[in-house]
Amino acid sequence: SQVYLNGDYMAPEEAKISPMDRGFLFGDGIYEVIPAYHGKMLGFNAHIERMQQGLAAIEIALDYDVEQWREICETLLSTNPGPNQGIYLHVSRGTDSKRNHAYPSGVAPTVFAFCFTLPGEPSCDADKASSYEVSLEQDRRWQRCNIKSTALLGNVMHYQSGARAGNKETILFNALGEITEASSSNVFIVKEGVIATPPLDTQILPGITRWLILQIVHTHSELRIEERVITKDELLDADEVWITSATKEVGPVLKVDGKQIGQGRPGPMWQRVQSLFSQHKF
Ligand code: PDD
Repeated sequence: SQVYLNGDYMAPEEAKISPMDRGFLFGDGIYEVIPAYHGKMLGFNAHIERMQQGLAAIEIALDYDVEQWREICETLLSTNPGPNQGIYLHVSRGTDSKRNHAYPSGVAPTVFAFCFTLPGEPSCDADKASSYEVSLEQDRRWQRCNIKSTALLGNVMHYQSGARAGNKETILFNALGEITEASSSNVFIVKEGVIATPPLDTQILPGITRWLILQIVHTHSELRIEERVITKDELLDADEVWITSATKEVGPVLKVDGKQIGQGRPGPMWQRVQSLFSQHKF
């Protein structure tokens, strides 16, 4: 398998970056994760657009256009066979000669990309689905969570405290007790047949999987979905809870902080939406 670094393809062990890179020193960069099934990327344009918005937000000037990104992703996919691949894209502000907080001028961004194997095709069968037990805690991250920054210490610490409790994800709520998102996923609930997810603002990443689910559900008039504030209590009292991301698709949550959600198994609305999502992939 090959990775991409600054215009070249190489074996992973050949890829070398200076420790003076601002990605290493400051976490000063933007990243993206794009899923690909049987060589076909899902939500490619939306992922690239989000990355370009992130780069603009932190004033990294990179002149790669969508077609250049597509070529990099397709080249990596062609050297990494396998039905379910994730593509990781990473742009840091680049390597400076000294450690200085100010954005340097005349420094070329560092661009790195590689493929990895996704966990596998999520099953639409409630008995075979990979489901989640999660922790619940107050969101202690920064106030620009809409930017997909490589500085993920807050997310990592939240994930790890869930892992320490034996869980595979941590759902977060703000100081008002409103659900924001999870350490590496967006959150949905279902109550009395209505799907809901928190609205987009600076407290959450505008997830591409979240956006795809909204698009898909809007084309089925019998399904109801709302973007609205969801409290911690509503989450605990929901019929279904899901976490979504490029690597998880629609992940059913069966327990939150040890409390069973709904019937304690992936629910009927999850099954409906995950199967619509699976059909949408091809
Ligand atoms: N994480 N919220 C956060 C904080 C995330 O890190 C992610 C994705 C999402 C879901 O976004 P999307 O549907 O576009 O994947 C929401 C990626 C997969 C990661 O860090 O590996």
